[in-house]
Amino acid sequence: MNEQWTPASWRSKPIAQVPEYPDEAALAAAEDRLATYPPLVFAGEARRLKTELAGVAAGNGFLLQGGDCAESFAEHHPDQIRDFFRVFLQMAVVLTYAAASPVTKVGRIAGQFAKPRSSSVEKQGDVELPSYRGDIINGIEFTPESRTPDPARLEMAYRQSAATLNLLRAFAQGGFANLDNVHEWMLGFVTDSPQSHRYRTIADRISETLSFMRACGIDPTNSPQLRSTDLYTSHEALLLGYEQAMARVDSTSGDWYATSGHMLWIGDRTRQADHAHLEFCRGVKNPIGLKCGPSMDGEDLIRLIDLLNPENEPGRLTLIVRQGADKVAENLPGLIRAVSREGRSVVWSCDPMHGNTVSMNGYKTRPFERILREVEAFFSIHRAEGTHAGGIHIEMTGKNVTECTGGARAITAESLSDRYHTHCDPRLNAEQAIELAFLVAENLRKERLDQGYSAPFVAAE
Ligand code: PEP
Ligand code: CO
Repeated sequence: MNEQWTPASWRSKPIAQVPEYPDEAALAAAEDRLATYPPLVFAGEARRLKTELAGVAAGNGFLLQGGDCAESFAEHHPDQIRDFFRVFLQMAVVLTYAAASPVTKVGRIAGQFAKPRSSSVEKQGDVELPSYRGDIINGIEFTPESRTPDPARLEMAYRQSAATLNLLRAFAQGGFANLDNVHEWMLGFVTDSPQSHRYRTIADRISETLSFMRACGIDPTNSPQLRSTDLYTSHEALLLGYEQAMARVDSTSGDWYATSGHMLWIGDRTRQADHAHLEFCRGVKNPIGLKCGPSMDGEDLIRLIDLLNPENEPGRLTLIVRQGADKVAENLPGLIRAVSREGRSVVWSCDPMHGNTVSMNGYKTRPFERILREVEAFFSIHRAEGTHAGGIHIEMTGKNVTECTGGARAITAESLSDRYHTHCDPRLNAEQAIELAFLVAENLRKERLDQGYSAPFVAAE
């Protein structure tokens, strides 16, 4: 692995999860055009994210990462982006307030289009077609035309990412995220739930605090931290032809960066040490996430860390642990001990979604109770090991969907069909996402108290 890295060096490695394009020349032409387009994100922004994550790795701060399982071309609507953004802001406020610690916000957005699949084909009746692999590759409709990988989709995904990012930057910097609006982020359909009452209590206290600070001369007009925020973007680095085309040399440092998003992660199905996805990601300087599923042991993990972060740079690597509620207690301590023993700096993040998928009434779903259980276990294991539970990674939407069962409104297996809209995996709806944020906040507060910090109390109701 000490061979020379180039943005194309992954092409000589074995690779999993590749689509078969009927027209290779058209694919190469689309990649060539992409390579000439403006970057979506800048190296300096990726470095700033890395600095924030270095703080999290050191135990100071928390990573909130979330968004759609898969973005879609059909649902590219400003309301969708706005609703996601405001639930994300609400979650961040709950976490910041409860734990009195900075929260780094990273969306699964503006580039999260490619999906790994457990089977390369899907059968319906007697018809067998290629599986849907995400809108950047093929269409979800079950027809031969739609399921054939189409290179034109790479540029469509690039343009959609650019438009989404433009709106996110406007929301983050243009006034929407002003803390004076903390009450207005509440979505209409959440207003009469237990979560809304808890949220309102926090929002009232923040408003009170802002009034006090205003009286002292500190307010959103003179303090940018109060009127704007940073939202970073991330996606799975799965479609490497696209990632290669979007890789650029940073003129200030001379280093290669992926400019398709601030943070990229490697999926659980494509994390083989000698394969293409590891090869591409080791060479770009962005913060990198690595999914850690149940088949990984401590030794595998250290080998992958050696490849991805040989200099042990804080903030470079986030381990996104996705074991499932029933396996996390057995598997996570071994991973933590290996990393601690070797003295590696990482952000430990919990993905409580991907190990808890079940089938009910013909729908892929995730019981909310199992999601909460995995998060609780993640925190208590870190408390026992003396390490920092540094983040969560979730699939969520700002919409009132019925995709995961349970939660305050007790979505049942029967009601899944009411508003099941996901293009891939089931997501938390807005209410479930906020409920989860409160659970995380309580755990963060416990961790802070154990360390002797004072953290404000979060009212239970
Ligand atoms: C995902 O995050 O959507 C995903 C496919 O996860 P994993 O690689 O952990 O299965
Ligand atoms: Co998913």
